[in-house]
Amino acid sequence: MASYNLNVNGKTMTVEADPDTPMLWVLRDHLNLVGTKFGCGIAQCGACTVHLNGEAIRSCQLQVASVGNNKITTIEGLSKDGDHPLQKAWEEIDVAQCGYCQAGQIMAAASLLKKKPKPTDADIDATMNNICRCGTHYRIRKAIHLAAEKGGVSK
Ligand code: FES
Ligand code: FES
Repeated sequence: MASYNLNVNGKTMTVEADPDTPMLWVLRDHLNLVGTKFGCGIAQCGACTVHLNGEAIRSCQLQVASVGNNKITTIEGLSKDGDHPLQKAWEEIDVAQCGYCQAGQIMAAASLLKKKPKPTDADIDATMNNICRCGTHYRIRKAIHLAAEKGGVSK
């Protein structure tokens, strides 16, 4: 066990954990940020996607010891009141079915819009490789375009 000061959603949080503990479990079990989900545990599905300094990463493969001072943002920290343009577009298009993959999808989309404020279908298809077992990919694409039209990146 070791002690880590982590910058999560703009706050410093201290956790005691084994160095090789995946951030996914630190977020969920130590910090009670359960919006980030476990799917495959092997960096394939994207359910565990969070941001590391604004870049989408798969937290099931990020060891707590390697985070250092880098900034982690989870779905809980993406916007203050769930009002990020992507969250509003998701609601307007009614994207989610079971919802399990959707926090990871939104975090991946937020990182995409930071790099490409007006992505094409091809940009979206190339970047959004998170798995949705309910098959909402078509509506995800539509919602990303809607968010982009309405201003895309809120912060
Ligand atoms: S749980 Fe991390 S990619 Fe599937
Ligand atoms: S909405 Fe069910 S897995 Fe994506």
